[in-house]
Amino acid sequence: MIKKMSQSRREFLQFFGLTTLALTGLSGASLLTGCTHSNALKNTQLSKLGWTPIAPSLNDQLLLADGLNYSVLAKWQDQIGGTQNKPLQFGTHNDFTSFIPFTESDPSEGILMVNHEYLKPLFVSGFDGKNILKKTRSQVEKEIKSVGISLLHIKKVNQQWTVIKDSKHNTRFDGSTPIPIISEKPIFGSKIAYGTMAGCAGGKTPWNTFLSCEENYDMYYGEWKKVPRSDEKPNPEFIKYHDKDFGWHQYFDRPPLHYGWVVEINPITKKAKKFTALGRFCHEGATCIKAGDGRTVVYMGDDNSDECIYKFISEKPGSLETGTLYVANTQTGKWLPLTINSHPDFKKLFRNQTDLLIQTRLAAKTIGGTPQDRPEDIEINPSNGDVIVALTNNKKQNRPHGSLLKIVEKNADHLSLEFIASTWISGGEDSGLSSPDNLAFDKSGNLWVTTDRAEAEITSDYYKKFMNNGLFYIPMKGPNAGKVFQVASAPVDAEFTAPTFSPDGKTLFLCVQHPGDNSQSLTELTSNWPSGKKGDLPRSAIVTIEGPLLDLLTT
Ligand code: FEO
Ligand code: CA
Ligand code: CA
Repeated sequence: MIKKMSQSRREFLQFFGLTTLALTGLSGASLLTGCTHSNALKNTQLSKLGWTPIAPSLNDQLLLADGLNYSVLAKWQDQIGGTQNKPLQFGTHNDFTSFIPFTESDPSEGILMVNHEYLKPLFVSGFDGKNILKKTRSQVEKEIKSVGISLLHIKKVNQQWTVIKDSKHNTRFDGSTPIPIISEKPIFGSKIAYGTMAGCAGGKTPWNTFLSCEENYDMYYGEWKKVPRSDEKPNPEFIKYHDKDFGWHQYFDRPPLHYGWVVEINPITKKAKKFTALGRFCHEGATCIKAGDGRTVVYMGDDNSDECIYKFISEKPGSLETGTLYVANTQTGKWLPLTINSHPDFKKLFRNQTDLLIQTRLAAKTIGGTPQDRPEDIEINPSNGDVIVALTNNKKQNRPHGSLLKIVEKNADHLSLEFIASTWISGGEDSGLSSPDNLAFDKSGNLWVTTDRAEAEITSDYYKKFMNNGLFYIPMKGPNAGKVFQVASAPVDAEFTAPTFSPDGKTLFLCVQHPGDNSQSLTELTSNWPSGKKGDLPRSAIVTIEGPLLDLLTT
């Protein structure tokens, strides 16, 4: 379904009783004087805001505040290249997006990277989820093809973002693509991994390559209960499987240690590699910034309850192959190095640096890495260098709404090993924010946040007031600085992921991930998004959002 707005920016402003002249000298944020659905703001005056945030919704639609429109750019199984006999198909469960224009002077054409995190077997392979031992090899092969990474050549044609299907740049990496592992030592006798899965958030390097982060990697080939050293023979009795096990291990013998890494993708050469230097855990994202001396600093979260926040400082400019990994102790404000010689206990636990990196969590906890409430996306405030971390939630600690954490590096230097951490926004009904996941700063420095409450818990006592997941806008200056306003509501069971602004700031790329994933059978679909037709399978998709309200809020 394509929802279109016909209003021009002028008509939009007139609609709200504002003229372009009236806007002169006022920032978008200064027009906002109050209100959203949250308890904190509900008594303020809607009429003073200048635009109307949307209320939470349970509708099976992508709902947007007036003044925004969206268009589907690509959805699961769309042909994005190849031939009729051998089509390249867009994957499912799209999470991270990043865009690199071919030239800086023309922001309207370039390569968009999208990763495909996981899948709903019922939709992809027809597997009903009842007995994993009955999943067939052919079903697994279909599933393998549905995840990974898509590279799309996109261009604005007649004001509409379009996939250029016959472009040589369009590519798919899937769950079987051979990818080199960059490591001091071979990992289980090999420096080649087969496939990348579980790609959650990611990043873009200063040298214009993409990063995709392998998060819940244990859903495909399990994880070692007792992780063997790299010279030990693996013992199957030590393998444990995720409670949402896709069972690929029944047909393909892949070592779990080949997954859980950060993957770099060069959009021009179409080559990928996995880095061990950035550690192995449930990688959520890898947010890069170039330090004063040219090296690259990468901020990363480990998205599990009571797991940690990490920082990597590259050894050299222009490469993440080598460098030092640190874990955050947010009580003492210290980044603690995770190198084999940096702590006496490491030599007792690990034989070498490769073994330490394979078990990054164990190393981090050994030296006092602070457990967090599921660290997900991390973004750097462009106006002051503050590092904002989305802590989604932590049911184990009875903190179901999470928070936004602020890390201020000493002297605003990303190479610093000291910092001050504080909670910036607490999740809950007072703030109107629950379970923040992905973050993006717009060109004026305002923050956009997507939420991720699990589809099975949307109607739980914790979350029922927040209804479906959404996209939220947080002005960073003016009287509403730090307040939370909802601008979009996701279809049933879906989360929005990967808000990414085009270089000119006029388009917001946004993924709709896993609509209808709570469906128990093909005749009981909980969502039919995006077609909206009863009986149609729901499809994850990437949409482009534009409109006069986007211009207003980001000006
Ligand atoms: Fe894939 Fe942590 O969300
Ligand atoms: Ca995420
Ligand atoms: Ca998520």
